[in-house]
Amino acid sequence: GKGAAMVTAVAYRLAKQQAERQSILDTLRLGREQLVAVKRRLLEEMTRGLARETHSSAAVKMLPTYVRSTPDGTERGDFLALDLGGTNFRVLLVRVRQGRRRGVEMHNKIYAIPQDLMQGTGEELFDHIVHCIADFLEYMGMRGVSLPLGFTFSFPCHQTRLNQGILLKWTKGFRASGCEGEDVVTLLKDAIHRHEEFDLDVVAVVNDTVGTMMTCGYDDPRCEVGLIVGTGTNACYMEEMRNVELVEGNAGLMCINMEWGAFGDQGELDEFCTEFDRLVDERSSNPGKQRYEKMISGMYLGEIVRNVLLDFTAKGLLFRGKLSERLKTRGIFETKFLSQIESDRLALRQVRTILQHLGLTSSTCEDSILVKEVCSVVSRRAAQLCGAGLAAVVDKIRQNRNLNHLQVTVGVDGTLYKLHPHFSTVLRETLRDLAPQCEVTLVQSEDGSGKGAALITAVACRLREAGL
Ligand code: GLC
Repeated sequence: GKGAAMVTAVAYRLAKQQAERQSILDTLRLGREQLVAVKRRLLEEMTRGLARETHSSAAVKMLPTYVRSTPDGTERGDFLALDLGGTNFRVLLVRVRQGRRRGVEMHNKIYAIPQDLMQGTGEELFDHIVHCIADFLEYMGMRGVSLPLGFTFSFPCHQTRLNQGILLKWTKGFRASGCEGEDVVTLLKDAIHRHEEFDLDVVAVVNDTVGTMMTCGYDDPRCEVGLIVGTGTNACYMEEMRNVELVEGNAGLMCINMEWGAFGDQGELDEFCTEFDRLVDERSSNPGKQRYEKMISGMYLGEIVRNVLLDFTAKGLLFRGKLSERLKTRGIFETKFLSQIESDRLALRQVRTILQHLGLTSSTCEDSILVKEVCSVVSRRAAQLCGAGLAAVVDKIRQNRNLNHLQVTVGVDGTLYKLHPHFSTVLRETLRDLAPQCEVTLVQSEDGSGKGAALITAVACRLREAGL
């Protein structure tokens, strides 16, 4: 009768909606072949970035760092370190010991960088940094003490020596004016001179990936790769000098800061990008830039998820088609919420609580299931893309050395990698699949960027004292 027909109609509509949801989510799912293509293209881009002729037009910049070896345990001394470009800005005092008491001891203080300083003038930003250093020295009872300083500055920098770094482009939402094209060591020194209170000996500018590799390398000589998956994403690794065409000399190795976040900026990833990726890119502070980073890192994953949810809602596939003001707000899905929502131990009821906390009050149980699925599709794709990238890096090292089999350690840091319940598992699976000839150990590095800057500074000071 009529009732049965109605039930059939409802069932039909539900099935159709479900199919519609899945076909949208399918655009965010990557197959093996696509991941193999990502790996292959990144390898090509790496070669282009390293070669003198193609460097200037390459998307992946492959920047020389002037770090030529990982630590050997003979490093020692007291150092200051600055860490700018991650979740927090920090000033650190690092004591490195050798011999029987070998190890690294640290004190640090976190300072907020208010949004308006990230987007004001460079002078204001660097004045603030110097103000924080002064406060830290005071706090440690070290006013007037002058220590060698390592500056972890986690943005793409062109270096011609260790203690200089010309900022090529801000990333991760930073926009302070008057900095791009300038040497950040000069910007820092100018600010110190304006302050007229103390002087600092800036010995090294260090990318966070390099700091992470060095920190891990302090305990594990096999560590030759550094990886960050946090606010942004990037990797560095030890490359053969003969392949580093931008730097004179063919002997030995040099660490390369890949700046892989910019992979895709010349269309290399276009065919894998969805409308959601394009929206996130368009509304970012650097449209068209850092396309790979925008598909992987913590600053953007939540935004991808939010855009999918907006689309579902507009199509009547979620939240009963009711668009809430909250969901229209940029940045509501922080990394920590994604990690919480995807936690296996979490009951659906708790997912709903998180959604309510986000102001998405009208959610039903089905809504919660769907939101969780969206999160997991987006973060899985991120981990796979990152794994495909890492596969390219370790295979490059293997090929450089003509090896059939390579054993290598990767030092990893970053909030997304550390907090997300599945990211590292999927990353490992992808890596095993795409770089089967490499046996990769991933090691979480504790406080890599600050410690690493101090270790690099220590090596540089030792060489300087030896007159090298
Ligand atoms: C961005 C920066 C890069 C940094 C990464 C991780 O990609 O450009 O220098 O290493 O974020 O913090």
